[in-house]
Amino acid sequence: MNATHLLMAQHRAIEALFDDVAHETRRPQRARAASRLTEELIAHMAAEETIFYPAARAVLGRTRGPGDVGGRVPDEHFMLRVQLRRVLATSLHTPAFTPRFEALRTLFSHHVQAEETEIFPRVEAMVSASRLESLGAEVEGSRPPIWIVTTETHAAMLPTRDRVMRGVRLPSLTEN
Ligand SMILES: [Fe+2]
Repeated sequence: MNATHLLMAQHRAIEALFDDVAHETRRPQRARAASRLTEELIAHMAAEETIFYPAARAVLGRTRGPGDVGGRVPDEHFMLRVQLRRVLATSLHTPAFTPRFEALRTLFSHHVQAEETEIFPRVEAMVSASRLESLGAEVEGSRPPIWIVTTETHAAMLPTRDRVMRGVRLPSLTEN
């Protein structure tokens, strides 16, 4: 899959997980959704930072202003990491969790907006379709198997031979 389309599909999957955590009332299911959200967010940011942005930088060079893909990894990534740490340090079952979680969701929304309205269109205009396809394959290949098997959305996109472990569940990291 084209890299920008794949990264946008990941955005939709992560948004759905934010909704799951926000609306789920059953504790085990909510904790599981929070664990999956964490894994997806880390995998997404790692793929963008190590694969997508270096490739975009090589093509577009360094520019100034909004949508700068030639400079450092977007500030949103740094903010997301800081806020994700705050959320992970907070029990799901305390009053402090919701405002921290909602702040993380707002930061992710800004991340999506910046990429889908500014950065991805510029990259799509400058990078060949075949290069975007190969970058997409790199992004897919960058996911450690242990993260792939915990995500039904992504598992559905894998070749059949890679789906044998689909359905395996890890213990939640945030049950307590
Ligand atoms: Fe993204």
